[in-house]
Amino acid sequence: MATKTVRGATFLDKGGTGKTTTAAHFGVALAEQDHNVLIVDLAGKQNDLAEYFGLLDDWQAAIDADDDDDQDWPNIGTVFTDQWEQIARAVPDAAEQMIWETSEGPDIIPAHPDLDGVDDDLASVDQEDRYQRLNEFTTEHLEPMGYDVILFDLPGLTNNVSYNGLWAARNIIAPVEMGPLEEKQANGLRDDLDRIATNFDIELELTMVLPNKVDTRTNLAEEYLQQFEDAYPDAFAPAYVPVSQDIRNACNQGKTVFALDKPSKTAEEAIEAYRVNAKAFYRRLTGGE
Ligand SMILES: Nc1ncnc2c1ncn2[C@@H]1O[C@H](COP(=O)(O)OP(=O)(O)OP(=O)(O)O)[C@@H](O)[C@H]1O
Ligand SMILES: [Mg+2]
Repeated sequence: MATKTVRGATFLDKGGTGKTTTAAHFGVALAEQDHNVLIVDLAGKQNDLAEYFGLLDDWQAAIDADDDDDQDWPNIGTVFTDQWEQIARAVPDAAEQMIWETSEGPDIIPAHPDLDGVDDDLASVDQEDRYQRLNEFTTEHLEPMGYDVILFDLPGLTNNVSYNGLWAARNIIAPVEMGPLEEKQANGLRDDLDRIATNFDIELELTMVLPNKVDTRTNLAEEYLQQFEDAYPDAFAPAYVPVSQDIRNACNQGKTVFALDKPSKTAEEAIEAYRVNAKAFYRRLTGGE
């Protein structure tokens, strides 16, 4: 297994393109390929990631219980606060307490309502420190737990939380839908990443551009696929993910398509695409294996 933790983030500056779906399914595919995986939800207001793993009710119950005894920390929002170092010293297993096991392989850190205030709070933090808090938390608390892969599911907008996610992950998987506007969006992403990398003097890699919700019954889809491949020859994913109603169905049942009893044809295609892409993603970041 890997000696160094591989990090990645699902990100595109646009809502609903499949960031959470990709993080969940890459996580399961990589776990299936014998990696020890953690997925961190920095996005889900509705706690989308927990939903894919059937943990929504338990998670809601845990939050309600915390509210009752006025003890709603530690959670992933806490990591971004000025008090975090103090809390980590006082509660040595604070990071472990945030982690939930799933029945499909990966561990997850679900989102938390406290994340809502983080963007504003970070705005008043020194520039030096503002974008690095998640990176420090990851290095000091998550990596030592021995994960091979840590995936961050980011919000569909650029704010201080997503900057933290990009900084911590350095490698980006961008799920894109096929269409003219989307191509502009993806080009915007490349410009954004270049700008962020220059401003912060860090390297950001667009590791994978992943066409999602592809409907090959239309000729246009083929055209857009070709355009994306031409625009991103290195980052283009080896397999696209088809549009599949079963992805939604599975989510509603608290699972990924990997755990469906009777996956439809499109779900089977999606499963295969996630396997191939997750493997390629890991290989791109480790240079082999
Ligand atoms: N390939 C697919 N086929 C069909 N439905 C899909 C597919 N991928 C994602 N979806 C559905 O599209 C919706 C949006 O997906 P998802 O939540 O992953 O997007 P997101 O980029 O994380 O959104 P947000 O920006 O709100 O966080 C969800 O209902 C999801 O189940
Ligand atoms: Mg999402």
